[in-house]
Amino acid sequence: MSPESERETVPDAPVEAPESDAAGLATAEVTPRFEEVVAQAHAASELDLTAEPVLTVENLRMYFPIKTSLLRRTIGQVQAVDGISFVVPKGSSLGLVGESGCGKSTTGQLITRLYKPTGGSMSFEGADLAKMGNSELKPLRKEIQMIFQDPYSSLNPRHTVGTIVGTPLRVHNVVPKKQVLSRVQELLEVVGLNPEHYNRYPNEFSGGQRQRIGIARALALQPKLMVADEPVSALDVSIQAQVINLLQDVQKEFGIAFLFIAHDLAVVRHFCPEVAVMYLGKIVEIGDRESIYSGAHHPYTQALLSAVPDVKQAATGGRRERIRLTGEVPSPINPPSGCRFRTRCPLAQEICARHEPPLIQIGQRHKVACHFPGRLGEHPREPFTARLLGVDAHGQPDPSASPTTDLIQQPGYSDTWFDLDNRSIGRA
Ligand SMILES: Nc1ncnc2c1ncn2[C@@H]1O[C@H](COP(=O)(O)OP(=O)(O)OP(=O)(O)O)[C@@H](O)[C@H]1O
Ligand code: SF4
Ligand SMILES: [Mg+2]
Repeated sequence: MSPESERETVPDAPVEAPESDAAGLATAEVTPRFEEVVAQAHAASELDLTAEPVLTVENLRMYFPIKTSLLRRTIGQVQAVDGISFVVPKGSSLGLVGESGCGKSTTGQLITRLYKPTGGSMSFEGADLAKMGNSELKPLRKEIQMIFQDPYSSLNPRHTVGTIVGTPLRVHNVVPKKQVLSRVQELLEVVGLNPEHYNRYPNEFSGGQRQRIGIARALALQPKLMVADEPVSALDVSIQAQVINLLQDVQKEFGIAFLFIAHDLAVVRHFCPEVAVMYLGKIVEIGDRESIYSGAHHPYTQALLSAVPDVKQAATGGRRERIRLTGEVPSPINPPSGCRFRTRCPLAQEICARHEPPLIQIGQRHKVACHFPGRLGEHPREPFTARLLGVDAHGQPDPSASPTTDLIQQPGYSDTWFDLDNRSIGRA
């Protein structure tokens, strides 16, 4: 990809706020536009089924304490992330999507250890990031880097590009001092910027160019994992495809894995062969691109996808109408009992209030957390989970049933799963 068009310093066109529905989901105005320009981009990233995990997250929790202003007594907790498990394969990308406030950024900040988690584990190359102190973390901080949403506020306006990109090299002593400048110039070249512009300041660059500077800074330490939190959502749509192309290029060249946080489902579909859907601190559905975009089984995922015109038809079984969720997202301070989505779910029944639906594997690379999982219009009448949980259809204890322990929410996928279509055990 040639970034020539971006090399000259041109002010960005003002970025229009995307239209959103009452629930704050990005809708028609943004996603199809990315689809239009994505024709200039590389092909969608493919899933490598043989890739080993670089990061394995298990039962990760982050509860922020709520304190009184005077005595600093803890009077409650914000359950921002509440027991999520997933795997990011080496050199691949896992997308994290969901409405505002569902815990996406907190998850990213836990992985980069900006926060110490309340509970759970994050295994990175055999070490548990969740339990480490600062000194143990220091060498690993090189390996996990972050790209931020806002290319304007994430770069210090008083530092030159050379200082910004060179600082990680100096702090971590990765190249001799004399070689820092030439390494910075190499990195600028990799991200498609003019290497001679190392002595310019961020305000001399456009938004897309600044995001390239942020990417060069993140690449400086040759990380194995990047957490990209809405990396293109502040950019003009015509620049989005160029930056996504660049991320695909560096991913391929350096074998970097991505946790890619975004609200734009069309961008995620292009960049991420696997996607996790979050709602109020939980993962409600996770799977490969095909399972999520063409075979979503969770009512929340179906509603999200129905807001994206180009994927709507597949997600809604050929129907064109948009599924509008009513009601507000409940507070993570006092989430609903059982299924957290039940206050807005059109399918909710008694069992949904009594029991949290476990995240169950229903395909080779597909898991869903719902008592009534099914393609749109094909949700079962009886709760699929009742027998497994040892309860009756209303969620009351059933003495004749024997709950199974197979529901333990392990990260990653097993070779066997519950095949909903055939009501049998599926096998890889
Ligand atoms: N430092 C904090 N202290 C207290 N609550 C927090 C803190 N950081 C985040 N939260 C709360 O945790 C929840 C999850 O926030 P988070 O920023 O992770 O959401 P998000 O999915 O990234 O949303 P968005 O799409 O708007 O960026 C929200 O209710 C938020 O208010
Ligand atoms: S468990 Fe119940 S409330 Fe939750 S998504 Fe499924 S049907 Fe809806
Ligand atoms: Mg966020």
